[in-house]
Amino acid sequence: MIVDMTDVRLPPGVGWTALLTAYARAQEQRRADPLFDDPWAGPLIGTALGATGGELPRLGPARDDGTSVLWEMFGAYFAAGRTPFFDDQVRAGVADGAEQVVLLAAGMDARAARLDLPEDVRVYEVDTAPVLDFKAAVLGGTGTDVRRRTPVVADLREDWPSALAGAGFRPGRPTVWIVEGLLMYLDAQACDRLVTTAREASGPGSRIAVEYFRRIPEMDSVPPVDEAEKEALELILGLFRSGPSADPATWLGGLGITPAQVTEVPDELRRLGRPVPAVLDLELTTDPMRIWLAAGTF
Ligand SMILES: C[S@@+](CC[C@H](N)C(=O)[O-])C[C@H]1O[C@@H](n2cnc3c(N)ncnc32)[C@H](O)[C@@H]1O
Repeated sequence: MIVDMTDVRLPPGVGWTALLTAYARAQEQRRADPLFDDPWAGPLIGTALGATGGELPRLGPARDDGTSVLWEMFGAYFAAGRTPFFDDQVRAGVADGAEQVVLLAAGMDARAARLDLPEDVRVYEVDTAPVLDFKAAVLGGTGTDVRRRTPVVADLREDWPSALAGAGFRPGRPTVWIVEGLLMYLDAQACDRLVTTAREASGPGSRIAVEYFRRIPEMDSVPPVDEAEKEALELILGLFRSGPSADPATWLGGLGITPAQVTEVPDELRRLGRPVPAVLDLELTTDPMRIWLAAGTF
């Protein structure tokens, strides 16, 4: 897969949080035993970072050399720890009859191309213009089949349902909503609003999948290996807000959504036969970071 790097530049506004998760997926793709297939993460990251192959350059806390406890945790969480869970939710929702998938804060998510969804299922990607334009340029350069992909430029703090409808989304129809890597950046009221808006925009037979921290992690939750990594962690945690106000069953239930599956990242890693980083392990750490993964139907 070849990307012409001379024509694609990372525009201002493509936040590195979207690139961090793609970095982890690119690393997963290079493993001998990948848990999912994401051949687009590598070109997206390579283009963004100006890398031509070999080891990926460092990006904030993300490193390709296995030396960082912080990145071993984030990498495991972003890739094996949550990607298969959300993939399964998309597949289950579509198998149950969903006609459309909405990726809220899609970032570099390539599910529109990589999940082999039925021809008539549309995937709406809501994010900012620089993110979606960059992604379109890179995917276009790889010759990827992007027919199912519909970019929706919208600010999730504003009237994004109108933008979604304007892009062809059909309100009232069964939909799968993917909220991956977003709720930790929102306060409790904004989380309620987002999920309620999604529920009201779609009809019976819909599904929503979310992920969030049980509480905001502390700076000393993970030992940074150097000063630069400490700064990166400060930057990440500085973006964090409270997230939803309760555990997933209580929270989703209170918003009129029936909890269908609730798990946590370490359980997901164990299920998939992957090691659990110590900072996430309830058995090894007295005060571990806890990250919910949850899905509900309505
Ligand atoms: C951590 S990334 C997650 C991306 C993707 N869901 C994933 O898991 O790989 C967060 C994404 O949220 C987007 N984002 C943040 N605030 C936003 C807003 N107010 N409106 C739309 N998108 C937003 C960013 O551009 C970024 O792509």
